[in-house]
Amino acid sequence: MHLDPEDERILAGEQGETRQKMLELLVALGKVFGAERLVPIRSAQVSGASYKTIGEYGLAWLSSLDARAVVPAVLNPIGMPRERWQEMGVDPDFAKKQQAVIQAYERLGIQLDCTCTPYYLHETSFGDHLAWSESSAVSYANSVIGARTNREGGPGALAAALVGKTPCYGLHLEENRKPQLIIRVQVDTRDWSIAHYGALGYHTGKLVGNRIPFFCGINPDRDQLKALGAAMAATGAVALYHVEGVTPEAVQIPYELDGLETIPVESAEILHLFKDLPVDAVAVGCPHCSPAELTTIAGLLNGKNVTKPLYVFAAQGVIERNRKTVDSIEKSGARVFADTCMVVSPVMEQYSAIMVNSGKALAYVPDMCGAVARIGSIEDCVAVAVS
Ligand code: F3S
Repeated sequence: MHLDPEDERILAGEQGETRQKMLELLVALGKVFGAERLVPIRSAQVSGASYKTIGEYGLAWLSSLDARAVVPAVLNPIGMPRERWQEMGVDPDFAKKQQAVIQAYERLGIQLDCTCTPYYLHETSFGDHLAWSESSAVSYANSVIGARTNREGGPGALAAALVGKTPCYGLHLEENRKPQLIIRVQVDTRDWSIAHYGALGYHTGKLVGNRIPFFCGINPDRDQLKALGAAMAATGAVALYHVEGVTPEAVQIPYELDGLETIPVESAEILHLFKDLPVDAVAVGCPHCSPAELTTIAGLLNGKNVTKPLYVFAAQGVIERNRKTVDSIEKSGARVFADTCMVVSPVMEQYSAIMVNSGKALAYVPDMCGAVARIGSIEDCVAVAVS
């Protein structure tokens, strides 16, 4: 693997033991995957932020590190909102441990936003190389933005944040980004909501596995693409997809599609996922809400009060930049929380049935929260919460 003089100095320990170990980790990863070099990254998103996941051992390891991130880096969602954990009903013992993890990351220069939508916080452009961890964020970066990232594990993403580089293999290379099958959607999607695209991702993820699909017959906007990719990464392992005439690489690169397997999708395969089940809570913001989604929710709740718990999840930075909208949502009794979500927060385990507008949450809520999951559009979610 080619290393430049700066890399060699780091490996020789000239910039401290932590950076030396981190670069050793990246080089080892690169050798396993056949990388010929390291590539500088624009940002990192680090998983392994929840105390529930990393425990005492992970906390001790993080606390032993001594370096600072050299590129913008955020964390994955954790089990509680950093500031409003008491209001959400989080156990104080868990909160104390979680805060210790957060402080360990702060010492390493990681920005404390815990979100699966880092693209709303740090400018991310076509062709940028990244080291992101969370599967929906990885899918959005690769597919919707046309940036390049593999799905990093926690230590790999942290090492990349501290060194500023990642091994150049997999989806960092143009030749590995070509479509591998066609999904032909044979449905009139003009009235489709974000939830319909989540349901499409839920269905197709199971068919696609870890291949790169090329969608024909749909015309989603960015929030709908976000929902599609998140769900496909949940029921499958899709880290990159293309949509004819919509996603940047599908528009700019004349991909060869002849001879690829084609899977048709019919309306009934999507619509049967929309079931009319009773629920005791509603949760939206999987992936974390965009400013446009917050505006839609505020409009739907205007002048109304919720009668069931309605949770809305978004990045702290997005909440701060849309404070009036968030206040307007909370006037209804709904709560807008940062840093966590309906899947990773233990608080959601108190409910037996949760309504979501996300195909990813539809896939994960049953196992992660022990609750029945129902999917519906954002309009239906709000209608159920205020009924
Ligand atoms: Fe994000 Fe949690 Fe969904 S991490 S993609 S809101 S499961």
